[in-house]
Amino acid sequence: MRTSSFLRLRRGLSAIIVFAALVVLAGCATGSASYEPGTYIGVGKGHGGDLKVAVTVSERAILKIEVLAAGETAVLGDSAFEELSRRVIAANSADVDVVAGASESSEGFLAAVRGALAAAGFKGGARGAKVAVRAPAKAYDVIVVGSGGAGLSAANAAAAAGAKVAVFEKMGVIGGNTLRATGGINAAGTKRQIAVGISDSPELFYKDTMKGGYDKNDPALVRVLAERSASSVEWLESMGGDLSDVGRLAGASVNRAHRPQGGGKVGPEIVKTLAGAAQKESRIVTFTDARVTALSMDKRGAVSGVAVAMGGREYKVAAKAVVLATGGFGANNEMAASYIPGLKGFATTNQPGATGDGIKLAEAVGAALVDMKEIQTHPTYAPGKEMITEAVRGNGAILVNKSGRRFCNELSTRDVVSAAILAQEGKSAYLVFDDSVRKSLKAIEDYVKMGIVLEASSPAELAGKIGATPEALTATINRYNGFVDAKTDADFARADLPRALAVGPYYAIEVTPAIHHTMGGVKIDTATRVISAKGEPIPGLFAAGEVTGGVHGGNRLGGNALADIVTFGRIAGTNAASYIGR
Ligand code: FAD
Ligand code: FUM
Repeated sequence: MRTSSFLRLRRGLSAIIVFAALVVLAGCATGSASYEPGTYIGVGKGHGGDLKVAVTVSERAILKIEVLAAGETAVLGDSAFEELSRRVIAANSADVDVVAGASESSEGFLAAVRGALAAAGFKGGARGAKVAVRAPAKAYDVIVVGSGGAGLSAANAAAAAGAKVAVFEKMGVIGGNTLRATGGINAAGTKRQIAVGISDSPELFYKDTMKGGYDKNDPALVRVLAERSASSVEWLESMGGDLSDVGRLAGASVNRAHRPQGGGKVGPEIVKTLAGAAQKESRIVTFTDARVTALSMDKRGAVSGVAVAMGGREYKVAAKAVVLATGGFGANNEMAASYIPGLKGFATTNQPGATGDGIKLAEAVGAALVDMKEIQTHPTYAPGKEMITEAVRGNGAILVNKSGRRFCNELSTRDVVSAAILAQEGKSAYLVFDDSVRKSLKAIEDYVKMGIVLEASSPAELAGKIGATPEALTATINRYNGFVDAKTDADFARADLPRALAVGPYYAIEVTPAIHHTMGGVKIDTATRVISAKGEPIPGLFAAGEVTGGVHGGNRLGGNALADIVTFGRIAGTNAASYIGR
């Protein structure tokens, strides 16, 4: 995969990334900058810890930037740092714009570079050269709009079938909401499940999904989802993805959420895997900072390409088939509130690019929309910070209110748990867990690093930190542990009681619901063809992932979105290639 930012992926956070050789120098050193030649270290604040860079300078120019340590999501960091390095070297200045969608990482990176330049005796300098934007070709076989899991799956599948593919991504980094996914990807009947004795089947997956969605789902789409889920997970594994840990997310009858070993975050693993495969594929080219603004249609009413805004220009790019994979509209509060006024002002777990563009693009060429009023809140969002994965509850955490009392079945579907939290004092609650839960799920370490986890040596001490009485919280935990021993939750009928909360330290995170998933979107059939308001497929137009509606009905189950995007993304890519005769 060639990318406009020459994306390179790395495995570990400690790996050293050298950008200089990859940089497109749009201009030479500019302004009146001067440095003491050499290599200098600078440190900034990353998303989950310190960010350390080594900057090499000559007397007049920044030559090379290496990331020595990055306390953050590897994939997001990599593509953002690479783009920033390109900008800094081209401008010969750390005074450049942050990368859209990665502002916190960008600020930390630029602060580190500034520190290194100060150590290099930086004098003067001006914001200089404009960074070159590589123009797209006039035509591709298939254009994929959006670089999340659906888009990257489609791109890989279309290229594997022989198509030349362009991926256009409007943000400065690839990955979309997929990069944020944490708890797992659902699949039924995988080798991983069989190895640990979990008895599951596509039929059970189908039933859970229809029940979770209140039977509003399109049954034909759910059949495809359930039947192909295992193959989707195994496809990712065949490309090197680690999905070896299997846990429980709400609404599932059995453990079927697959994620990296030790309970690590699943989204970065999936993006890294798909982007890594695309990178090896010469038929795929990816452009970031490239927003598709319209679909072009020919005289027969077939899609013939897109208009894309890049570097202050608009390009018309032709394609015989287009796959819309632009995600949902969870970050577009105005749009969400236009369907459900009660959501006005709600926070979101989504990345800022999740604004519903694809829905508008498709609607403009006559596509039908379904289930637009089905918008899901995630119950456990740490206000102003981050979604706390459902897997924390899946691995044993309970929810208590400010009085230290449980108030719901923590593994009920998201709509039910969200409503229960909103009914508590202050419209928030505390996730409470012990050290055995922490040790069971790597994702929790990020929350600890972010400083959002309260810690105490005993339930009584933790009570003081959440404003409850020591007696109340201690009694709640003791009673819950009794249910774990008895294998029955006599208070709320929680189906899965994986472990007692009995190993100190004890932890609490304050949580409240936030907009998380938009179940409605563009109508598709099982071949991912976009269906018009007249009920006919729109020739050449395919869609997959959260931009579509129908798969999840009235409520999506945790882990099912990733199964959806990989499964239907693959189908879209294969069928787009086949539509153009590949
Ligand atoms: P995205 O991954 O959002 O990608 C769409 C891309 O299209 C974005 O990069 C966007 O910037 C780009 N785009 C939009 N408009 C344009 C345009 N006009 N031109 C060019 N590009 C455009 N689901 C699970 O199953 N399991 C989980 O554990 C899980 N955890 C989650 C955690 C969080 C915090 C969030 C927010 C969601 C989670 N989900 C999870 C849901 C799941 O991640 C998403 O539903 C899924 O990743 C959507 O994939 P997608 O490819 O359809 O869209
Ligand atoms: O809680 C989570 O990890 C989110 C899962 C999902 O949205 O499917």
